[in-house]
Amino acid sequence: MEEFHKVRRLPPYVFEQVNRLKATARAGGADIIDLGMGNPDLPTPQAIVDKLCEAVRDPRTHRYSTSRGIPGLRRAQAAYYERRFGVKLDPNTEVIATLGSKEGFANMAQAITAPGDVILCPNPTYPIHAFGFIMSGGVIRSLDVVPDASFFAPLERSVKHSIPKPIALILNYPSNPTSYVASYEFYKDVIAFAKKHDLIVLSDLAYSEIYFDGTPPPSVLQVPGAKDICVEFTSMSKTFSMPGWRMGFAVGNERLISALTRVKSYLDYGAFTPIQVAATAALNGDGSDIAEVRSIYKKRRDVLVDSFGKAGWDVPPPPATMFAWAPIPPQFRDMGSLEFSKLLIEKADVAVAPGIGFGEQGDYHVRIALVENEHRIRQAARSIKKFLATTGTGDAANVVSLSARR
Ligand SMILES: Cc1ncc(COP(=O)(O)O)c(C=O)c1O
Repeated sequence: MEEFHKVRRLPPYVFEQVNRLKATARAGGADIIDLGMGNPDLPTPQAIVDKLCEAVRDPRTHRYSTSRGIPGLRRAQAAYYERRFGVKLDPNTEVIATLGSKEGFANMAQAITAPGDVILCPNPTYPIHAFGFIMSGGVIRSLDVVPDASFFAPLERSVKHSIPKPIALILNYPSNPTSYVASYEFYKDVIAFAKKHDLIVLSDLAYSEIYFDGTPPPSVLQVPGAKDICVEFTSMSKTFSMPGWRMGFAVGNERLISALTRVKSYLDYGAFTPIQVAATAALNGDGSDIAEVRSIYKKRRDVLVDSFGKAGWDVPPPPATMFAWAPIPPQFRDMGSLEFSKLLIEKADVAVAPGIGFGEQGDYHVRIALVENEHRIRQAARSIKKFLATTGTGDAANVVSLSARR
């Protein structure tokens, strides 16, 4: 039987193949160190959990909530933007709470896309950036991800040669998976370009607070006039270690926020009220929880870069996010990221995410998530060192045949 139209456009999740192999290895007794999925392992801070428990005891919170978020939550998000970025937002018209930023992004795509609309999207990138639009009938044109002057010539070509003309441009800095961070100057140039070409800009700022080198990543909304064309998504998942709570935000252009609000009003009644109450308390906190989360990821990053380097695998230190974007060691490069990831599970008991899962431009890298503690990261490095020693250096053909023989 033929696949449904939409399902045919959604390739099976590449990560599923790695997950299956991981499950098989675990079932066989292997202790797999899982640096694959971007699922934060840290507990949500106790005060936020306590606030949830307190709110849930009030039966009035058991009713349907408000789809766009309770007023106090939207005010808290507006206050965060003002404090952190100096960006003023009207909590009634320029802020909406979403069920995680992923849901917000996907439903924004649904709200603004007509069949055949062209969207400019980075490659490699977090899958919903492309597939949110593909599910909505849009067509993707890939962009480079490096946020510097080299970004603009290919962008200009893409706009010039797309028929019909693109409607929107996606940004995601700090980037998952590459961990590139954009500067304010870059955003200024992007906004000028987008205004000139009548493009909507959707910015995914899920890693606004996970940065390691002193300078907090800017918001594109800091650029004067950005609000005319731009919406930005943020998430509580990483910032407060609340991934399972499903709480995020879209803020910015009133017309776009209103379109998303309309679509969501048909789809959901908002997050469970106690979650919204606890999220409000988190955002109104003194920032110490955020600093704690950031410092744990930073220590893990330093251990990863140091121990993997000593094991013979040079991993560039990510300036932000909870991921390292690691070039596949040269002797394995030609096998591609999926086969290399499988090899690492089978031979080193370490799971990583194959770069191809983030787009074809990702196939020479794997993404290593900082979701195991320092001890386990060191253990992974020891195991990889042994694996690299058994495969020698330099002869890719041997390695491929070794993998095929298993
Ligand atoms: C870039 C990026 N955007 C969005 C998300 C999803 O976040 P949320 O849990 O808020 O849906 C992730 C999660 O990994 C991400 O890496």
